[in-house]
Amino acid sequence: MQIHHHFSLRPYNSFGIEALARSFASFNTAEELSELVTEQLHPEKDQILVLGGGSNILFTKDFDGWVLHNRIKGIGLLREDDRHFYLQAGAGENWHGFVQYCIDHNYAGAENLSLIPGNVGASPIQNIGAYGVEIKDLFHELEAFDLFEKQVRTFRSADCDFGYRDSIFKKSAKGRYVILNVTYRLNKKPDFHIGYGAITQELERMGVQELDIRAVSEAVMHIRSSKLPDPGQTGNAGSFFKNPVISSVQYTDLAHEYPHIPGYVAGEGFTKVAAGWLIEQCGWKGYRKGDAGCYPKQALVLVNYGNASGKEILDLSQAIIDSVEKKFGILLEREVNVV
Ligand code: EPU
Repeated sequence: MQIHHHFSLRPYNSFGIEALARSFASFNTAEELSELVTEQLHPEKDQILVLGGGSNILFTKDFDGWVLHNRIKGIGLLREDDRHFYLQAGAGENWHGFVQYCIDHNYAGAENLSLIPGNVGASPIQNIGAYGVEIKDLFHELEAFDLFEKQVRTFRSADCDFGYRDSIFKKSAKGRYVILNVTYRLNKKPDFHIGYGAITQELERMGVQELDIRAVSEAVMHIRSSKLPDPGQTGNAGSFFKNPVISSVQYTDLAHEYPHIPGYVAGEGFTKVAAGWLIEQCGWKGYRKGDAGCYPKQALVLVNYGNASGKEILDLSQAIIDSVEKKFGILLEREVNVV
């Protein structure tokens, strides 16, 4: 366990934003966390922020509380049955490293989620998703430390209340639990999801004759790296906004005026609209003011070209929200957690 005070969070957020934590502690085990919570901080009155990979957070000011950096590692096979492998990973494991582990061992189901930045612990919080697959599709259960009761609790899928980039950990359970490990259910026989986006085209371009999970993973990685900025090079947090879900009536009206508006059925009577398209139509794609910008290849991604402040990125996001609302009557919601 390591403890620091007035500690720079810049290396700990993929936006690369400068902000100070009043106190910062990293822990490697549940026992270290428990010790920290009992001896150093007071969950009832201290502000606490649990940080994993820092890939979905925007700091807009210094953090006047404790930042807890989860470094619990380890990947292990718990058990298997006829159809599945049950694989447990420490919350501090890098997500893409976990996906690669699955591919190397021929455990199927995580390949579409290749190259998503961040850590295992964040995967259920955000219900991360890409190319037609979400964490909820492979989630089995997780163990979390209850900061108030100071004990470990198990959450099964039904307890997590998963939604689109959403879970109980962003709602009623927010701020209460520290995820320690996650158990995923991987398949022995792959169930390929290659219909979404450009995956089939990419597999053809790669000349793949026989489909396997490694090929799908590589196709996803090619597509992602062609459209999305590498946080190691340009600060960003992936999609900054969620794709909004509107009534199908509103969508039909909009489609009369804008025949190219991309929409996908999202339950009866609702349509999910591509926020990237809405933002691009408002002229933001490639926009840059100072070091804050809207990524030229994917308008849903806001970037820090170097020394943008969190406030500058937030202001840009607000200007985008306002203009999309004015033009289309649709209110965009941020996917990134603003602190
Ligand atoms: N589009 C535009 N202009 C843009 C960007 C997109 O017109 O600048 C259009 C595309 O042409 C396409 C549609 O919008 O018709 C959807 O674009 P894309 O396939 O790139 O996906 P997305 O909806 O923008 C979502 C996820 C991504 C995920 C991809 C692929 C959300 C908020 N984002 O993006 O997730 O990788 O689908 O599955 O749901 C993330 O959450 O951080 C993230 C990167």
